[in-house]
Amino acid sequence: MTAPAVSISEQDADALGGDDSILMRQRRDHARLDAMMNRCLSEDLPPGELEALWLDVVQLVFRHAFAEETVLWPLLRRVSPDGEELTRQVEEEHQAINDLVARLERSPDDPRRAEWIQEAFALIRQDIRDEEDALLPRLRTAFDDRKLRRIGAAWEAVRATAPTRPHPGVPRRPPGNALRGVPLSAYDRLRDLAPDSGPTARRASLAVTGALVAAAVVRAARRRG
Ligand SMILES: [Fe+2]
Ligand SMILES: [Fe+2]
Repeated sequence: MTAPAVSISEQDADALGGDDSILMRQRRDHARLDAMMNRCLSEDLPPGELEALWLDVVQLVFRHAFAEETVLWPLLRRVSPDGEELTRQVEEEHQAINDLVARLERSPDDPRRAEWIQEAFALIRQDIRDEEDALLPRLRTAFDDRKLRRIGAAWEAVRATAPTRPHPGVPRRPPGNALRGVPLSAYDRLRDLAPDSGPTARRASLAVTGALVAAAVVRAARRRG
């Protein structure tokens, strides 16, 4: 993937539109993912912690990517001449991550599990590099700081209520991803809550409300488009 602009990893918060811009929000999530993946692979990880940490990685990856596919990549296709090619490539990466994580969920006792987790991590790292070095700099070029902050808020709203599990059969592009993915986010959150003994019903109903809000955001964005 070509990188004609300066990577967002090499620019400071002011140059990226401030702390609330989509570029800074993306960079923070990427750094968090990187730290969690490193922790998963560290030799001093206490036994039993890997699965919980792995679930945290999975939840963040899918929420993050779903919001990209819903909010960011359609915008990039509109403003960048090579947006179609660039977004198709990251969508393929997202699909490969989906397929791999779904396989891990289906095969909890497979001896190749550690190998597949490493493979998933390599794909996630590749995705982060492509976004920071090629896709996100194009958003910087196309939008002023205020718009970058507004895009950041829209992305955050969808991310907060997006699916948290792999759904390889859900399309990667709107409107199909929203129509089929958003209803699944409530189901995913119920699964995420299952091991908890906390106030599950209240939190589940919040997740359902959130999913409906996300659907409304997507519908509004489509109308504007
Ligand atoms: Fe990202
Ligand atoms: Fe991504």
